[in-house]
Amino acid sequence: MSRSAHPAGPRHADVLPEGHYTAPADDLNALDPKVWAHTVGRDADGVVTVGGIAVTQLAEEYGTPAYILDEADFRDRARAWRTAFGTDADVFYAGKAFLSRAVVRWLDEEGLNLDVCSGGELATALSAGMPAERIAFHGNNKSPEEIERAVRAGVGRIVLDSFQEIVRVAHVAESLGKRQPVQIRITVGVEAHTHEFIATAHEDQKFGIPLAGGQAAEAVRRALQLDGLDVIGIHSHIGSQIFDMSGFEVAAHRVVGLLKDVRDEHGVELAEIDLGGGLGIAYTSDDDPREPHEIAKALSEIVTRECEGARLRTPRISVEPGRAIVGPTAFTLYEVGTVKPLEGLRTYVSVDGGMSDNIRTALYDAEYSVALASRTSDAEPMLVRVVGKHCESGDIVVKDAFLPGDLAPGDLIAVPATGAYCRSMASNYNHAMRPPVVAVRDGAARVIVRRETEEDLLRLDVG
Ligand code: LLP
Repeated sequence: MSRSAHPAGPRHADVLPEGHYTAPADDLNALDPKVWAHTVGRDADGVVTVGGIAVTQLAEEYGTPAYILDEADFRDRARAWRTAFGTDADVFYAGKAFLSRAVVRWLDEEGLNLDVCSGGELATALSAGMPAERIAFHGNNKSPEEIERAVRAGVGRIVLDSFQEIVRVAHVAESLGKRQPVQIRITVGVEAHTHEFIATAHEDQKFGIPLAGGQAAEAVRRALQLDGLDVIGIHSHIGSQIFDMSGFEVAAHRVVGLLKDVRDEHGVELAEIDLGGGLGIAYTSDDDPREPHEIAKALSEIVTRECEGARLRTPRISVEPGRAIVGPTAFTLYEVGTVKPLEGLRTYVSVDGGMSDNIRTALYDAEYSVALASRTSDAEPMLVRVVGKHCESGDIVVKDAFLPGDLAPGDLIAVPATGAYCRSMASNYNHAMRPPVVAVRDGAARVIVRRETEEDLLRLDVG
């Protein structure tokens, strides 16, 4: 990732440790709109506000840590994706990034479809009234119960991930007297992350059926023979946090190549291509994500060009953004508990959450930004590491960042861009109680996922 070395001339600390980190912003009180939700700002007292509500008020009412989600921003981003792809394409929000019943209703109202990848996500979607035909069901090892539930509910598509699953889904559909629309997930030998992609041998992973060696073609051949299946298209997902479209270009080329082979062999033109999710967002000011309309234009041009080359009718495109919709819409609000300067190194700032509410830093070495939220400060920047309260030294929320040198216990700090894969990957490590998700809109806040309590933890402990 792009990080600039700290410039010569340490600030605040007499000595700064070796390493690469982004230089402190000129104004530590500024909130870069790239990484913060749309309605975030500061009020006249310098307190961070979202949807017109001060974080001090939110902390008082809902406690910390808490995920604070800007509903207007979520709806804006969902609508931007929907509008960018128009009526000739479908946008499936990837529920794994963050799913709750409120989110399902917003998606429904904004005209998006939903990708679920477990029985639990399917149950959430159905219980909030998402029409089953707008749900795609994913997963590399769906249980027989999950398959039956999805087929009975009438989900719009099941994405098949293995030869065994082709048979399993066909069997369930036939036994229920149904013909289930399916896509076949293939691996195209492309892996993309952040700024780079590699087009070599990335079939070596658990998802999908490799295009290599004719396996994907064989999967289509078998699926087309089964009465319980209606093969509507091919699915490909190439990675996460992608900024560079060239990986999609290679993927589209290879998927269209398969469509052409299927047409030549079976005389069938499959109607749909799903290019998955993985579009990147800004976690720090160094990241430069693309806008949905640029992505839609690029994908549609790539697919159209490839299909013209293969003399195929252009299939309907679908995409599955998760992070790009929900990621930037939320921040995590923490209270500072201790501030511990380590001479010649950095200052450790301990907050009341940690790896149980954001595992991404420990798991992926993910980078985040952080800001003092309950006030502004003109103190000199100090290099900090924001850490949690778990019994583990890898319990890091923000690895390297600058905060004002007068930071003190009781201050509120906020970590932006935590809407995706933070609550959804949260754990009860050390019997931490998972924080609530508070949605804010037009001066009103409401809890959409409540904070866990000790009673919740003890209820599961039947010992
Ligand atoms: N479609 C499929 C088939 C996927 O596997 C995924 C993500 C998505 C869509 C949505 O990708 P997104 O647009 O949200 O990047 N826990 C990791 C991310 C894992 C993504 C897995 N699949 C993280 O925190 O970065």
